[in-house]
Amino acid sequence: MNKPNRLNVELSSALSSTTSNGEAFVVGVFADEPHLPGAEILGQNLLQACEQLVSDGDFKGEEATSLLFHTSAAPEGEKEEDKAAHVARRLLLLGLGTHADFDADLLRRAAAMTVRVARDKRLRSLHFILPEAGERSAPGMVRALAEGAHLGLYENDFYQTRDEEERSALELLTIVTPRGGDELREDLERARIVSESANWARSLTDEPGAALPPREFARRAAEMAGEFGLKVESLNAEEIRAGGLGGLAGIGQGSDEEPVLIVLRYEPSDAAPEDELWAFVGKGITFDTGGISIKHGLDMYEMKSDMAGGAAVLGALRAAAQLKPHRRLAAIVPAAENMPSEKSIKPGDIVRTLAGFTLEVVDTDAEGRVVLADGIAYAKSLGASRIVDLATLTGSIIVALGDHRAGLFSNDDAWAVAVESAAARAGEPVWRMPLSDDYKKKIESPIADFRNYGGRPDAISAALLLSKFAADTPWVHLDMAGPSWYGDPLPHAPEGASGWGVRTLVELMLNDNDDGSTL
Ligand code: BES
Ligand code: MN
Ligand code: ZN
Repeated sequence: MNKPNRLNVELSSALSSTTSNGEAFVVGVFADEPHLPGAEILGQNLLQACEQLVSDGDFKGEEATSLLFHTSAAPEGEKEEDKAAHVARRLLLLGLGTHADFDADLLRRAAAMTVRVARDKRLRSLHFILPEAGERSAPGMVRALAEGAHLGLYENDFYQTRDEEERSALELLTIVTPRGGDELREDLERARIVSESANWARSLTDEPGAALPPREFARRAAEMAGEFGLKVESLNAEEIRAGGLGGLAGIGQGSDEEPVLIVLRYEPSDAAPEDELWAFVGKGITFDTGGISIKHGLDMYEMKSDMAGGAAVLGALRAAAQLKPHRRLAAIVPAAENMPSEKSIKPGDIVRTLAGFTLEVVDTDAEGRVVLADGIAYAKSLGASRIVDLATLTGSIIVALGDHRAGLFSNDDAWAVAVESAAARAGEPVWRMPLSDDYKKKIESPIADFRNYGGRPDAISAALLLSKFAADTPWVHLDMAGPSWYGDPLPHAPEGASGWGVRTLVELMLNDNDDGSTL
């Protein structure tokens, strides 16, 4: 398996002269401004060379565009910066779109695209001039830039036989900004930890179903937990059955690969047992064929990513172990393979869940809500005071919101706002959806306490079913079927898993709300 490349990101207030063939200066360009933000540091000659290209219309500064060119601008005068400018051989102009739309999210994507261009050009080192854009050049910009750089180098190439020459050679990214100080250095460290954890979640999500059945998923989680000092309390198939998690047992019974309830715990060093416990519950269907209610073949391969929510909650704890928030945390992943077989749960079968409710499984392809019902109940049995679940739960949420936003459902307005604003700060926007008993007919069963499916569209009714299991514990459900997966290669990311949710959960657990509010 190919080893991910480890990128160093540093800060510098000066632009050191660059002499090597493998280096470049990166300069942002707004589509609607002739001046290049922060680029005076290049010195007169290089600055003019860049501005000439822009004013001649050869580079328009549109989002997701870049232009790499060579320069041999002659020195002018005896000033130090002009000498430095003389030896710069490569410049990368980077389109930032219109000034008014520029923000941390755009910079994150632009930085990710930049490192991908650098990879293709076999560059080893970049000096990235932080685009100074007035009040929007807040410290969050440095973090977004660094996150983008780490996220951009992710490749789903574990199964590709590649020559060393095709891999990224990029070792160093220097962010050039007059700002400095310990706080920004902490931002860089946090960006590295969060992005590596998101990339870890992506690499699990991109694994083929055969490579990551539930027990292997659990083994990888335990391996990570060992590396970072998290506690593992997972349940095997027998413990699942004996423990009364009939939903997870039922969905998992059709496969030769046994289900697992993966449980990781993070305890801050100063934790008291009576401190609040936040539980992150993630759907962990390692492959979703639909079961006996089998899916048609088109795009079924994408269902190897039906454990993206599970990977994200584990990734969030991976980050927590290093960032050490003052919160007790648990990640809970009901993991199963949804397969048709002689032993499978059949449409119409009834399972008894951990919460005590019975559930009529009228459609075995609505399996996520059945395993999550047990995951949420298990979180409550651990004493969780607040719950967030992440799940690639319904195709309907994609119809409603598309690929860019997850749907947020909640039984608690304050908790909903906390998660929503964490997601916005993390650059993983969500959209709140309604949760009301108007939809309750769709989850009523004539023979059991509830049924798992009452016809499409079902994003709201699926959430309503989960809310019965959360009951009066503050709970947020994120239906992330849209943003969990990039269906096409993008300038800033390859096709495949996005790692969606890790950044939001980290933002939430560190709880540094802009408005200073705490939960
Ligand atoms: N894992 C799917 C939802 C999904 C669909 C995620 C597309 C990502 C992309 C879920 O288990 C499922 O199969 N949902 C069905 C429900 C069915 C009973 C109608 C769906 O939404 O089609
Ligand atoms: Mn399904
Ligand atoms: Zn599914």
